[in-house]
Parts: sequence; C-alpha cells; structure tokens
Amino acid sequence: MSDVMTVGIDQMAVYVPPFKLEMGDLASARGVDPKKFELGIGQDEMAVAPLTQDTVAMGLNAAIQLFDRADKVDQQRLDAISLVIFASETGVDHSKAGAVFLTDILPIKQGVRSFEVKQACYGGTAGLQLATSYVHQHPEETVLVVASDNAKYGLKSGGEPTQGAGAVAMLISQDPRIAKVSDVSAYHTADVADFWRPTDQEYPLVDGPLSKKAYLDFFNDTFTSFLGLTHQTIADFTAICCHVPYTKLGAKALAPYLDDCDDETAKRLSHYYQQAVSYNRMVGNIYTGSLYLSLFSLLAHEPNLAPDSEIGMFSYGSGAVGEFFSLYLSKGYGQEIQKHRFAEQLTARKTLTIDEYETLFEEKIPTKARDFLVADDHHDPSEYQLKAINNGHRVYSNPKNR
Ligand code: COA
Repeated sequence: MSDVMTVGIDQMAVYVPPFKLEMGDLASARGVDPKKFELGIGQDEMAVAPLTQDTVAMGLNAAIQLFDRADKVDQQRLDAISLVIFASETGVDHSKAGAVFLTDILPIKQGVRSFEVKQACYGGTAGLQLATSYVHQHPEETVLVVASDNAKYGLKSGGEPTQGAGAVAMLISQDPRIAKVSDVSAYHTADVADFWRPTDQEYPLVDGPLSKKAYLDFFNDTFTSFLGLTHQTIADFTAICCHVPYTKLGAKALAPYLDDCDDETAKRLSHYYQQAVSYNRMVGNIYTGSLYLSLFSLLAHEPNLAPDSEIGMFSYGSGAVGEFFSLYLSKGYGQEIQKHRFAEQLTARKTLTIDEYETLFEEKIPTKARDFLVADDHHDPSEYQLKAINNGHRVYSNPKNR
C-alpha cells in the first residue's frame, strides 16, 4: 500500500421520491405564519414518500444511477464492489440489513460483504468512514455506501415541518474522482436524550430544544478539536457543509465563527453554505443522507472549485454522536456530479395538496402483515418499488431485470 494513496468519494447520486409538499401550504393548514418555516427554520418544500418507496426502494433508486452511467472506469470500479453498507434509522427490518436486498437486486458480483449501520443521522458518516478505512486496507476494492431514510414525525407534531425522504448512494474507492476523505477527524459520543425511537414506536420521541442545543454543542466540540488537531483556522476551508435537519440549524452553528473571522472568509463560507443547502431546502430532512445531499448541492451549484479545495464536513446523529472531518476536491469533480439528472427529479415531483399529503402519510403496511399487496395508487414513476410482502418478505420490482 503506497503512502500517497488517496481514498474517498468516487461517485455519488441522489434519489428523491416523486411527491412534495409546499411548506407554505403546511403552514396555512396548521395555522402557522409561513415565515416561520421559510425563514425561522429555512425550509421551502418537503419530500413525501409513497408506500411504494420504503428505504430499500429509495436506496435502490439512488444506487442504480451509479450503474446506469457506467463508463469504462465506472465499470471497473462497480465490478470491484466487495462491501455494501446501508445506513438508515428507518430501516425495514430489525435483523436483516437493507444492504442484503441491494446486493441481491443491483448488478453486483456474488461474494460480497453487506450490512446495515445505525446511529441516527450519523449513520451515513459511519458508513463513509468505515468504507474509507476498508479501501485503505483493500486498495483494489470498492465500497457502495447507501444512506436512505423516510423522516416522519407524525401529522401535526412539533417535528412535522422538519420531515423529508430520500437516499444518497456513494462509491468509495482509491483515486476518487470527486473528493478525498481527510486522514484526520474529530469525533465525540455522549448519551443525550434529544431524539430517539424505541423499537415499539412508530415515530421518534423528540426534545426539540435539547436537540438544537446538542447539535450546536457537538459542532463546537468537534470543530474546535479538528482545528486543534490540524493546526488550521476556519479561513483554510473553502466551504463547510453540515448535517441539515433544517437549513437554519447549520447556519446557526457557523454564525459565531463567521462573526469572528475576516470578511472575505465569512462572505465565502456564508455564500457556499447557502449553495450547499439549496437542495435540502427543497427536500427536507433525509436523516443519514442529509449531510451528503448538502455536499451534492454544493458541488452541483459550484462545479469549478479549485482542485484540493478543502470542504469541512460536520455530521451529527442524535443520541448522540458528532464528527468533523474534511474532504479535498478532486480535479474535474464537477463533471462527475449529475446535476441535471437530479434537477429533473426535483422538477418532475408532483405537488400534493394538504389532503393528499395527509392521506399518503397515513398509508401504512398493516402491522404484522405476512402477505400484502402494495398498490401503486399514486402512480409512482420510480424504477424500483416495494411491490408486496410475501410470507413476511419484502418484494421489490426489478423492471429491467438487471
Ligand atoms: N417568522 C420568522 N421566524 C420565526 C417565526 C416567524 N413568524 N416564528 C418563529 N420563528 C423562528 C423562531 O424564532 C426560531 O428561530 P430561532 O431558532 O433562531 O430562535 C425558529 O423559527 C423555530 O421556532 P421554534 O419556536 O423553535 O419552533 P418549534 O418549537 O416549532 O421547533 C424544531 C422547531 C425544529 C425544534 C421542531 O420542528 C423539531 O423538534 N424538529 C425535529 C427535531 C430536529 O430537527 N432537531 C434538530 C437537531 S437534530
């Protein structure tokens, strides 16, 4: 293994379900000033998943985009996948990993490892960091990391305006074409009762004010540790991406640091933060994938940043674990980001009325159902869909029989 080997994100793709709710419509229906959602929490739209899009189906729809675009380098790297990591806090099974379904349905070679990781919204970063270490040990191999979640807090609940749904898929390899993952990272775990979901609960238990405080405390802790470990200042970062439960929260984490730094740095970081949360404003919280949706948003809106630009990455998962690390952009990364494909998904979404949203929200697979046909009542155009429960086993469509 060479000392100069770089490992990181080689490819990434994002999937959002085909329905959305305008936050202004939610505000009117709930008797809330629309400015609270637009400015107070910083959200414009919220993705809504139909029953056909559970977290495995969304993960499949994100990951297949990596296989669809395959050129020669892609194909070599896809053929070299030997580990599939599924990150989710809204997985479909307490025992079986979502990664097993993906490994079976996607065109991945036989004989791979696959498992699921969980620690609230931190799971995507856990997957990325594990994958990075794994590739350092196995330089010829590739890891597929998929972060997929359906963030539901319940109709008329305090967390309702911070819901969302979607998945991010990333290929981790050596000589990555998007970004190298830093060797240094600062992380922290503490038992905090800010957000959790006991196994018998449909929706999470949330202490909103505590979750805000914990997020900000973890940012301060890990960011200052990272600066200490690397002997850097905030001015060294071209941009900083944060986990985005709602876009205002990352801005709040950065604000005191921007007040304290030079004007040029403050202006740059503030501008790039807004670019980085542009898609999150339209999708809402997707838990494990939120930080990576934000990264995708930054890179899609800013395809020409200088090679080796350093992007700070703050990950937070309630309960709680936080981590600050950085990425160094690869030359030509802008050509690897499929901005148009994602923009098409966003614009093709159907806007739900509040009645349609509530109906769709309440559609559920009956508890303890052993056999159940999932009707496509809403005409979901997505390639992969949950079709049925057969003797307790989830069955997905695979129309092109890949
Ligand atoms: N115009 C502009 N801003 C307004 C407003 C208005 N009419 N009304 C309220 N606001 C602002 C508030 O001042 C507040 O801003 P601040 O945080 O800068 O003080 C913001 O909107 C939110 O108001 P708040 O009263 O805190 O809202 P809430 O009690 O409904 O809680 C959440 C908001 C996000 C905490 C809640 O939706 C939640 O619990 N979500 C799930 C948990 C979560 O996402 N936690 C994040 C960490 S992981």
